Amino acid sequence: MGDHHFEEAVEQVRKQTDILEVIGRYVTLKKSGKNYFGLCPFHSEKTPSFSVTPDRQIFHCFGCGQGGDVIKFIMEIEQFTFGEAVRNLAGQIGVTVPNTATNRDDREEEEIHTIRQAMELSAQLYHHLLLHTEHGEPAREYLAKRQITEETIREFQIGFAPRFPQFLLNFLTTRRGYSIPILLKAGLISPSTRSKDQHIDRFRGRLMIPIHDTQGRVIAFGGRLLGEGQPKYLNSPESRLFQKRHHLFNFHRARATMRKQKEAVLFEGFLDVISAWQEGIHHVVATMGTSLSEDHARFMRRNVETAIVCYDGDRAGQDAAEKASQLLHSVDCTVKVAMLPHGIDPDDYLKKHGAATFRGDILAGSLSYYSFRLERLKRNFSLQDETGRLRYLYQAVQMIGEIPLPIERDHYLQKLAEEFHVPLSTLKDQLSRIKGKKQSRNTRDKEKEQWNNGYYVNRKRKHPPLPQKNRVERSEMFLIAYMLRDKGIAEWVKKELGAEFTTDIYAALAAYLFSYYERGYDADPVRFLHYMGESELSSVVSELLTREIPEPVSEKELQEYVANIRRERLVQEILQKEAEVNRLGMIDPLRAAELLQECNELRIRLKNNDFGSF
Ligand code: UTP
Ligand code: MN
Repeated sequence: MGDHHFEEAVEQVRKQTDILEVIGRYVTLKKSGKNYFGLCPFHSEKTPSFSVTPDRQIFHCFGCGQGGDVIKFIMEIEQFTFGEAVRNLAGQIGVTVPNTATNRDDREEEEIHTIRQAMELSAQLYHHLLLHTEHGEPAREYLAKRQITEETIREFQIGFAPRFPQFLLNFLTTRRGYSIPILLKAGLISPSTRSKDQHIDRFRGRLMIPIHDTQGRVIAFGGRLLGEGQPKYLNSPESRLFQKRHHLFNFHRARATMRKQKEAVLFEGFLDVISAWQEGIHHVVATMGTSLSEDHARFMRRNVETAIVCYDGDRAGQDAAEKASQLLHSVDCTVKVAMLPHGIDPDDYLKKHGAATFRGDILAGSLSYYSFRLERLKRNFSLQDETGRLRYLYQAVQMIGEIPLPIERDHYLQKLAEEFHVPLSTLKDQLSRIKGKKQSRNTRDKEKEQWNNGYYVNRKRKHPPLPQKNRVERSEMFLIAYMLRDKGIAEWVKKELGAEFTTDIYAALAAYLFSYYERGYDADPVRFLHYMGESELSSVVSELLTREIPEPVSEKELQEYVANIRRERLVQEILQKEAEVNRLGMIDPLRAAELLQECNELRIRLKNNDFGSF
């Protein structure tokens, strides 16, 4: 019964709330055709790529990919859970949602709330112990040795977990009434290795550094040993509140400065962040025991234009810096890489040389993305001998060829010419020769372009141009777009193709769509967005919904899309078999001959446009 009531409230919110009015409170919107455009509140940008489509009651940002309905918008902008967002919006239209835990969603939310309280309380307790008790003495000494001031300890609410095995456990259960299952879910205690129904504190004898979400709520801890030992850091386990691949240490404090300066410094360690902050450098964040993820990179992109990667000056640090910078570059961040002396980490450097030198020499002197990559490339060649130098030059020019802007390419060629005392014109020649080769390989690009141009129903470019996609990918995209809007088309495609689209995202979307319709839901893209839940794919869906596609679609067109996909599958099958033929040539000639025969048959089918049904 409770379930019923909650779902009804969700329905009412979706029907009675005007997305334009709600978003209009946060973003200035201007009408253009069917859509409204404005500056995206989820990433920093100068030209509006954030759009709201009132007809469909959805929003989508072409810059950062955020998208969804009004509930999703409120969840993102206010950092609410689903239930919190529904309650908030329901309140505005005078619909009440029961507060008691009557359904699964509500119960889960109540649990999360309790876990949050337990985390907050633990942070306070650890902090208090460190500052005001005898137990905290060794931790205070350790921090003093590392020159961390009391003000910083308070700002970061640094704490200490004493060595007793059940200190926090006893406090939170006996004195505060929390249950064992809740503390387990919070990652504050773990089952004892001696007996399964005994539990002990997860953190013992460690310096405790609280980790917060974007709203500044404690979601995890990093625990450092006071001396040497393994593991140096013990972090909270992943939970519904805390995902390493998603969260960045210190973001909630750094956000304001990051946005103002449109720049952030990315460190590897907790202590690097804490020392930089203490020295007045506030736009600093760090990953926690993992390399930078795609999630992190997109998150950075939403908040700043420039990311300065500042990792340890050792081999591992520089390898990690290369990966992180590539990822950030791929999501369109302006990337810089700060170079530290070998074996020195940012914390060491700051302690030794102070903030002014760090800003002036390290941050301001950081390398551009391509300079950094050219430096890294250089280390693979012995530049003393001539062959080494020439090989490096060849590969360097090739790398410079990747740069889209001519003016930037010239800049790097110039630098290279100066460094190696070769005429600029020679390098330019070399570059155009490399580029020439690539071009002839891609004559089929013309065909792709035609496809792209035919896409717009309305030629008045209301949307940013579509990223270049090949024919098959475009067929898959169109099919999914129609399947979202029409259950009949989805069922037909299921019969013709199944979910085996050749592009991973579209294959996943097709599978989701089939299961959505199988549950008896009607075509309702926004409901489908909720059905998918928190998923990387939802951005693809909101984009497909925001873009206009030709409607209605003819059966002939649909059949053409399906044929394109089938042809591609056939091509893939042939390629796979041919690779197998090559591999088996010597090992198993008989089998290879058999496969070759199969390949030939498939090739004939391809030539006759007979893609069969799969
Ligand atoms: P570092 O070893 O560089 O630590 O690891 P640090 O933060 O600079 O600390 P100090 O200066 O040695 O005291 C970098 C980061 O890698 C993760 C932590 O997030 C750490 O801040 N890490 C490191 C772990 O998660 N576990 C470990 O055992 C070690
Ligand atoms: Mn370090």
